[in-house]
Amino acid sequence: MSWRENAKKRAALEATKLLKDGFVVGLGSGSTVTYAIKGMGETIQQKGLQLFGVPTSYQSLMLAVENGIPITTLYEYQQLDLDIDGADQIDRKLNLIKGMGGALMREKIVASAAKKFVIVADETKLVERLGTNHPVPIEVFPFSLPTVNLKLQEIGGTPILREAKNKVGPTITDNGNFVVDVDFGVIEEPKNLNLQLKSIPGVIETGLFPEMADIIYIGKPTTVQVLKKKQ
Ligand code: A5P
Repeated sequence: MSWRENAKKRAALEATKLLKDGFVVGLGSGSTVTYAIKGMGETIQQKGLQLFGVPTSYQSLMLAVENGIPITTLYEYQQLDLDIDGADQIDRKLNLIKGMGGALMREKIVASAAKKFVIVADETKLVERLGTNHPVPIEVFPFSLPTVNLKLQEIGGTPILREAKNKVGPTITDNGNFVVDVDFGVIEEPKNLNLQLKSIPGVIETGLFPEMADIIYIGKPTTVQVLKKKQ
C-alpha cells in the first residue's frame, strides 16, 4: 500500500474510535471514508456495537451493506450522532471543498444533520487557502445549465461541465443532476462565496462547506494530525 493509502486508512480508523453503542452515523463518500465504513463494519462484528448508517451515495450504501452495517434514513433519524466523510481541500479554519466524487448534495444534508461532523483525509488535502489549483464542484439542475454558467462567469468563475467516465456526455449525480466544476482561483471568503452561489437559480448545492466540520483527522506518513473547531 502506498504512503497515501496508508495515511488515508490511518485517519479513517482514528475516526472510528469515536463510535459508541447505539450511534446513528452519516456515511460519507469517496476513497478515504471507505476505510472508515469497513472499520465500522469490523466494529459491529468484533465489538458487538449496535450501529446504524445513513449513506450519502450509492457508493456508501453498497459498501455499508457489504460490510454488514444496518441502513437507516433521515426519515427515521433527523439528528445523527456522527458523520464521517472525506474532503478534497481543507484549510486551517476547517473550511472544506468537497464533491469531486459528485456526492456533495447528500453529503451536505447528512453533515448538517450530525451532532459531530468528522472529516478524514490524507495530508495532501490540507492547503493554506481553498481554491488553490482546485475548482469548486457545484450540483446544477440540467434545465438551468446555460443560465447558471453565465452567472458563474459574471461572478468571476470559470465553469466546466464535468464529463462522465465510461459514458458519453455529462456526469449525472445520484440525484439526476449535472456537476459543474468552477475555478474561482484562491477563495478569500468561502462563506460569502457559498451564499452567492446558492442564490443562483438552478444551483442545487455547492461543494463549499464553510465552518461545518467539527474534527478533522489528517493522515500523515506515520501519524495523524487532529484539527478541532474552536468552541
Ligand atoms: C465526494 O463527492 C467527495 O466529497 C469526497 O468525500 C471527496 O472527494 C474525498 O474523496 P477521497 O477521499 O476519495 O479523496
